[in-house]
Amino acid sequence: MPKESNEANQSNQSNQTNPASATCAGKHPAPPCTLVIFGAGGDLTKRLLMPSLYNLSADKLLDDGMEIIGVNHGERETSDWRDELTQSLRTFAADKAATFHTSQLNEDAWNWVVGRLEYFPGEFEEDETFARLKARLAKAKSGNVVFYLAVGARFFQPIIEHLGAAGMLEEKDGNFRRLVIEKPFGSDLASAQELNRCILKYADESQAYRIDHFLGKDTVQSILAVRFANAMFEPVWRREYIDNVQITAAETIGVEGRGKFYEQTGAFRDMLPNHLFQLLGMVAMEPPNSFDAESVRDRKAEVFDAIRPLTANDVVLGQYEAGPAGPGYKDEPGVAKDSRTETYAAARVYVENWRWAGVPFYLRTGKRLTERRTEISVQMKAVPFLLFRDTPVDALTPNVFTLRIDPAHGTSFDFNVKVPGPVMQIGKVRSAFNYADFFAERANVGYETLLYDCMLGDATLFQRADSIETAWAAVDHVLHPDSPLPVRGYAAGSAGPAEADQLLADDGRTWRALTDPHKKD
Ligand code: BG6
Repeated sequence: MPKESNEANQSNQSNQTNPASATCAGKHPAPPCTLVIFGAGGDLTKRLLMPSLYNLSADKLLDDGMEIIGVNHGERETSDWRDELTQSLRTFAADKAATFHTSQLNEDAWNWVVGRLEYFPGEFEEDETFARLKARLAKAKSGNVVFYLAVGARFFQPIIEHLGAAGMLEEKDGNFRRLVIEKPFGSDLASAQELNRCILKYADESQAYRIDHFLGKDTVQSILAVRFANAMFEPVWRREYIDNVQITAAETIGVEGRGKFYEQTGAFRDMLPNHLFQLLGMVAMEPPNSFDAESVRDRKAEVFDAIRPLTANDVVLGQYEAGPAGPGYKDEPGVAKDSRTETYAAARVYVENWRWAGVPFYLRTGKRLTERRTEISVQMKAVPFLLFRDTPVDALTPNVFTLRIDPAHGTSFDFNVKVPGPVMQIGKVRSAFNYADFFAERANVGYETLLYDCMLGDATLFQRADSIETAWAAVDHVLHPDSPLPVRGYAAGSAGPAEADQLLADDGRTWRALTDPHKKD
């Protein structure tokens, strides 16, 4: 989060000469540290970590004392790893459809990163790897180390145990040792608790940085700014005025060759208790006293704590079948022909506290839907109709305020005005704000802030052990039901299963349309 810390101020003094472009306004370079990436050969490293390091370098937010060590199984030369990453960065940068697209690469900024990359061969489960790594870190320029676990979840515990047993997580002489753990953080309450126990056996909670990449999105961080930097929202942001909140993460893509992973996971575990709950937390939390990490995370933890545990009646699961957007899920590579894994999940969630009692939060996510759209739509209650009873107006549509996260970045507000003409008629209109109309767009992959904050020691945007566990606890009954939940079919390219519409219809409500008639949305 954009706030200064002592660490940042100290490091500014030690920073020498990052050659790239001008310093990002108001920000200081992170303190010097060695970034150890487990999973150097993986997709995450290529697609997200390297472009983010490049962007941070271009903004002069990295210290010249930084070193980047990539651990992976298999012998190879550092020069080969550097070449491979340079090649993939260039490919992403040139791809107009990619998140990291830029008209021109800042060669100095990339060379700054490349010059610090060092390939370190080693198996993630062998003592010998960690003994060598410890010896290497003893010679590092800085005693500060960030261990980034960009590996499959099955390696999380073995790596943490080895780091812990080798004493590499001990913070000495004022140096920090931090662990970044990627998603999925467990697959249910019991496994998340086990992983937390493992981390906390060897490290303090303050050393753990559990990533949810949705929190790295500017549009998600902006939810708090919109809510708390404007006088008009907070007074109506409560059960007296809000009828329901709809949180959508609809995707047009399928499982993109990840069939094997997805078979074990499914849409519910993949998206609900993590990404969608994080959005819910930002929308529903009470105002924190400050942007201090604990203040923000305490308020969010209260929301998760207040969620009424979901039951089978609150959830609809679906799986895409052949439709306008292509073949069905069961025909994807790596997927069983009789798979019951869901590619769609919708849920009705109640936050049982004073502010939100009785207001349903409807969450939905799915693959191969008609449109890509991540958004939070706050649907207000209707006003009394009295004034219009003697006019031709027969209905008033409630106001809807929408925070648009992806791919559109901005907000929109649906409200009612008089249709021009001699009689009183009401028409629904939309007022929309797009970030691109006001701010310069940047090639940002969403991990820049997360990496930078971790190096600064600001955990605001990371998940705390207690919140992870309360989130899993809220859905645990649905994950381990007495009898399996039905998985409904929906056509690839549709808006999801009919049963998800019924979930809202039973409450007298409808989902906000996935395809919007308003052009600029
Ligand atoms: C990931 C899920 O965490 O988030 C993917 O594993 C999903 O299945 C992705 O596609 C969505 O993230 P984004 O940022 O593309 O909306």
